[in-house]
Amino acid sequence: MEYQIKNAEGRLGILIPGLGAVATTFIAGVEAIKKGIAQPVGSLTQMGSIRLGKRTENRYPLIKDFVPLAGLNNIAFGGWDVYDDNVYEAAVTAKVLEPSLLQAIKPELEAIVPMKAVFDKSYAKNLTGTNVKEAASKYELAEALMEDMRTFKEENGCDRLVVVWCGSTEIYTEPADVHATVANFEEGLRNNDPRISPSMIYAYAAVKMGVPFANGAPNLTVDIPAIIELALQNEVAISGKDFKTGQTLMKTILAPGLHARALGVKGWFSSNILGNRDGLVLDDPDNFKTKEVSKLSVLDEIFRPESNPELYGDMYHKVRINYYPPHGDNKESWDNIDIFGWLGYPMQIKINFLCRDSILAAPLVLDLALFTDLAQRAGMSGIQEWLSFYYKSPQTAEGLKPEHDIFKQLIKMQNTLRHMMGEDLITHLGLDYYQELVESL
Ligand SMILES: NC(=O)c1ccc[n+]([C@@H]2O[C@H](COP(=O)([O-])OP(=O)(O)OC[C@H]3O[C@@H](n4cnc5c(N)ncnc54)[C@H](O)[C@@H]3O)[C@@H](O)[C@H]2O)c1
Repeated sequence: MEYQIKNAEGRLGILIPGLGAVATTFIAGVEAIKKGIAQPVGSLTQMGSIRLGKRTENRYPLIKDFVPLAGLNNIAFGGWDVYDDNVYEAAVTAKVLEPSLLQAIKPELEAIVPMKAVFDKSYAKNLTGTNVKEAASKYELAEALMEDMRTFKEENGCDRLVVVWCGSTEIYTEPADVHATVANFEEGLRNNDPRISPSMIYAYAAVKMGVPFANGAPNLTVDIPAIIELALQNEVAISGKDFKTGQTLMKTILAPGLHARALGVKGWFSSNILGNRDGLVLDDPDNFKTKEVSKLSVLDEIFRPESNPELYGDMYHKVRINYYPPHGDNKESWDNIDIFGWLGYPMQIKINFLCRDSILAAPLVLDLALFTDLAQRAGMSGIQEWLSFYYKSPQTAEGLKPEHDIFKQLIKMQNTLRHMMGEDLITHLGLDYYQELVESL
């Protein structure tokens, strides 16, 4: 079945709660790419290709030439932050990109000034910004965000909007009755229920307006029944959560390989040091807990110890994140993996990844914004599990375990794109090549 995909003409507004390191690296990157002074490395929508049809057909178009995506010259950027620095100033503070690169796009970045945020210090104690909305109730805060979106859309001549959460990680919370239905949630907004976090208010405002939402942090946000219900009612695409970068990216590349070869794993110790504002927020144990839960789930789903107890039943998995200011955004991670092979003989793997957090995350923001807009134009509403590829902790329908193996996630994503465009799905079976050969003999 081919989807009736509305065309991508007109302007797409990408609105971002949280104009910090990731968001400014993303926006500055797109502006630099538009000027031809940099390349969108790491972005599948810009540089990735996709095989179509049989291998003998040799069709490997770029993804952006295969599916109708918004063009980079047709995007307007905006967002909210608790600090009032414009995107140029925030990018300078983040210290991710070279001053010379930022200088070349300074006017474009200075023009993006954050709107006042919906913020609650109890959800991120280590932040002290003052660019914050005041209102009598959370319901009024949601209405103010909707007004921001309407104004932004009009002032920037946008035809469509998409929201990507790049705000700080909120403290750990679990879904409660107030998150169970739209009615409960709206009542909670009116009663200022403390269990409704700021990110949920953004999510509610967007989905209520028919604006799709992708969540780059591990907070619940769109991953609560009330927002899922609202997304289905209003036919809005949602997805989350937590951008898959750095150490978890490596884990979901390596673990499927060990599992594929039936090698055992006794322990996996992961440690990180990072010194950006994200690291500062995660230095608080309540905020770290949210990240820890997101990072820990990955290995269990890939190794499935319950179906492979001899190989993975005793696996000890530990994740640490330490705030270390001298490293700034250049996160360093160490993994020690104790594996065992034939007859149980032990071996070790050590990984020392000297990565750049925001450099890895920025292309994901771009892809998520463009693919989420595509899904919305294709009429695909509710949870977009096919975007799992981008997330540490993919959101799935209730009762469905997320798929963490990056290769399966890629196949799922590519097949979804083929399916949308009415192309044959690719199973990689390949027997037909030989069958035809046999039959022709
Ligand atoms: N960089 C990565 O590789 C990576 C990977 C996965 C997830 N993430 C998540 O992405 C998010 C952004 O990371 P970052 O490195 O840019 O962090 P950052 O601290 O540089 O930026 C986050 C920004 O969000 C703002 N903010 C916090 N609460 C807000 C609110 N309620 N409304 C509006 N703005 C708010 C903060 O003031 C800050 O400027 C974090 O939650 C992080 O955990 C990042």
